[in-house]
Amino acid sequence: MLQINPEIEKYIIDHTSDEDPVLAELNRRTHLDTVYPQMLAGKMQGRFLEFISRMICPENILEIGTFTGYSAICLAKGLKQNGRLHTIEINDELIPFAAGFFKKAEQTDRITQLSGDARKIIPELNITFDLVYIDAEKSDYCEYYKLVIEKVRPGGWIITDNVLWGEKILEKPASTDPSTRGIIEFNELVSQDNRVENLILPVRDGVMLIRKK
Ligand SMILES: C[S@@+](CC[C@H](N)C(=O)[O-])C[C@H]1O[C@@H](n2cnc3c(N)ncnc32)[C@H](O)[C@@H]1O
Repeated sequence: MLQINPEIEKYIIDHTSDEDPVLAELNRRTHLDTVYPQMLAGKMQGRFLEFISRMICPENILEIGTFTGYSAICLAKGLKQNGRLHTIEINDELIPFAAGFFKKAEQTDRITQLSGDARKIIPELNITFDLVYIDAEKSDYCEYYKLVIEKVRPGGWIITDNVLWGEKILEKPASTDPSTRGIIEFNELVSQDNRVENLILPVRDGVMLIRKK
């Protein structure tokens, strides 16, 4: 995560609308029941994703990396009426956990959970997406991007999390660190791809907004 003055962080949290009760419970349960609760988007990033989704008002969203479902619920809030979010998770133990919260958030009818490896599932999806959120294995970011870019409509969006990767993008990655290498290669790939325009924002661990021309 990027270092931010703790007083400023507290100020931001205190002056951002509260989590809705279902997201607050999901946040709490994730911290009690999972091994890496820090993977969850959380209040600030969740609101950010919700607001972006509400601005775009997408018909079809793809999320790569469901985890316990926090960001999926946030993104689904911005869907068009009759819109749908497809979310892919490789760890099948997380599927029922997330499903329970999709039900509590009354989003079951709008969310399709796909269990398995996104690299195998994405090529089978015959859907054009208005918005894609990439938040899974960092060493595979380039692969996800190459698979989804053709499925995003012109004028559509890709949002990618962790692109500053705790500032490790400034270092030469060790051979034992495929995640840092993956993020650096992804940032290079996108910034040199003339099919898209992109912007990196220093939100939490770095968020990239990509617009397909
Ligand atoms: C950072 S977490 C996602 C957090 C979630 N988007 C949120 O904000 O609440 C990353 C998730 O991606 C999943 N994952 C990793 N590799 C994957 C793959 N190849 N296909 C699908 N899911 C994958 C992991 O099991 C993990 O649950």
